[in-house]
Amino acid sequence: PRKIIIDTDPGQDDAFAILFALGSPEELEVVGITTVGGNVPLSLTTKNALKVVELAGRPDVPVFAGCPGPMVKPLMTAEYVHGETGLDGAELPEPTTPVQDEHAVNWMVRTIMDAPEGEITVCTLGPMTNLAMAMTMEPRIIPRIREVVLMGGGFFEGGNATPAAEFNIFVDPHAAHKVFHSGAPVTMAPIDCTYTAQMTPEWLETLGATGSRAALEAANMAGFFCQYGDHKFPTKARPIHDACVTGYLLVPQAYEQRDCYVTVDISSSETIGMTVVDWWHVTGKPKNVNVLRRIDPAPFFDLMLERISALP
Ligand code: BDR
Ligand code: CA
Repeated sequence: PRKIIIDTDPGQDDAFAILFALGSPEELEVVGITTVGGNVPLSLTTKNALKVVELAGRPDVPVFAGCPGPMVKPLMTAEYVHGETGLDGAELPEPTTPVQDEHAVNWMVRTIMDAPEGEITVCTLGPMTNLAMAMTMEPRIIPRIREVVLMGGGFFEGGNATPAAEFNIFVDPHAAHKVFHSGAPVTMAPIDCTYTAQMTPEWLETLGATGSRAALEAANMAGFFCQYGDHKFPTKARPIHDACVTGYLLVPQAYEQRDCYVTVDISSSETIGMTVVDWWHVTGKPKNVNVLRRIDPAPFFDLMLERISALP
């Protein structure tokens, strides 16, 4: 199986991404989960990651706490989307599994340096602070990374945190800039992509009724998560952003993709955190990012249903 690190700020959609990966052990080996301050503060994203590995019956997957806030800006959280706990909607017990002692950034550096070159894929589902810090601390990890697959950014759809910027990039634009220009192979799932795979109430009902507790609690948390966005979406269907990262690793053929030059605005007051995607290659600059544009929803949702409901 492909070895992945999941760097995350759970977050209901982060939880879906993690459960989808843990339900796919033949294809993906989650070597560890690193947490970051994002949707809610770090203490909660760490606790939530532990709750999710326990829900999946996988307390053996180590969880490392990382950076509490961005490299330069103050932290902005999103309780207005995810609730006070970050995982509102699900009733999950307090985790009994302890967080690891080592700092997530140190562990990430050590793990990538110790693994054979090109083995580790890093999936970021929140602000990219930990990965950018790891790249800053030990640049020799950069050519060793197989691929960075991230949820973040937006171009045709604009932003969801500001008119120009998507949340994960807006929270830590400097980290995103560092990663995009690092030279590591980067694949990006912007909201342009995630908006094309929307979860329907019917799909969630099916998920909740499979008999798996993990699937039931996933459906419960999605019930809360999907309340947000009535002002944006014409129906009750909602994107499940971070799960699109796992989906890409498992069914890349369901995604429309294009290599593009991408940069991040880190200096303007109105558009800081905006991903500038050269979709038409008008700059002629070297293409540094594989941009995911559109998902074929059927294979994505069919597989996610199968894999999450395979968990206990
Ligand atoms: C991203 O922001 C967070 O609220 C979600 O977890 C996702 O990672 C979507 O813009
Ligand atoms: Ca997230």
